[in-house]
Amino acid sequence: MGAQELDLAGLRRVYGRAGSRRFYTLVARNARHWGWTEPGQSKWRLWRAQRQLEDVLGRKLALPAGARVLDAGCGAGVVARAMATRFGLLVDGVDVLDFHLAEARRLNARAALVDRTAFRWGDYHHLPFADGEFDGAYSMETLVHSYDPPRALAEFHRVLRPGGRLVLLGPMSAGPLEELPPRTRRVLKPYLDAHVFPGARIYHARNLPDLLTAAGFEVEEALDATRYYQPTTEAVHVYFRLPWELVRRFGDPAKWLNLRSTVEMYTVREAVRWYVHTAVKPSR
Ligand SMILES: C[S@@+](CC[C@H](N)C(=O)[O-])C[C@H]1O[C@@H](n2cnc3c(N)ncnc32)[C@H](O)[C@@H]1O
Repeated sequence: MGAQELDLAGLRRVYGRAGSRRFYTLVARNARHWGWTEPGQSKWRLWRAQRQLEDVLGRKLALPAGARVLDAGCGAGVVARAMATRFGLLVDGVDVLDFHLAEARRLNARAALVDRTAFRWGDYHHLPFADGEFDGAYSMETLVHSYDPPRALAEFHRVLRPGGRLVLLGPMSAGPLEELPPRTRRVLKPYLDAHVFPGARIYHARNLPDLLTAAGFEVEEALDATRYYQPTTEAVHVYFRLPWELVRRFGDPAKWLNLRSTVEMYTVREAVRWYVHTAVKPSR
């Protein structure tokens, strides 16, 4: 069942490359997540789509201002700051990459949010928090990195109080990878390895609700939101196609993993579903 241990070196490679860091800082403005576009909206406004996705998360958490939430895999803290400023939540972010945490703390101080958000080193399979500390928890496009999704879900369950809410957002296969057409698997599998996505080999749209139930949650909603994510996929592909062609011909392709994957993954986009799962820890 997967690697069963944290591949820190792999994650450092994925997020630490100069090309990747520059992309996330300059283009994505520190967010490391996709976007949500409503029907009829322009697909080209990527930053608006990212803010809208954060708003979807805040609405699904549906917690009152002052509630305490866990951000599992906080990156540079963009989502945590959105939850604090737009929804009045108190956020504890954990991440395993020191350079993401340093960035999160720096941006946090600049936004004068140190009293509402805190960031610390933590692997979400072994959370550095006591039982029942949180009213809510979320993972914005991070569970796919999980080497042991049942263990991660059990940890989210442990740190939530009875009645606490969990929201998971991110991509997954519609069913087991083995059921995908051989050509799709040939494109997908090296991508999963290169990006350190062991979770994508273990959970998928069909079994994630069962994994949540097995961890003790009641699943409130398993929303296939692919159509809201698809416009971002289309826009990013157009933006990346030409730069990737230039890098492929004249540069060093190994340094531009994100460019390469975005273009290659576009060819198998039908196999990727984007979900928002909302679950509750029963009150007993
Ligand atoms: C795609 S980024 C998303 C970051 C942030 N949620 C956002 O939307 O901007 C995935 C993040 O998960 C973190 N991560 C991966 N495995 C983790 C683990 N086991 N525990 C905590 N964080 C993890 C990575 O270091 C990275 O910062």
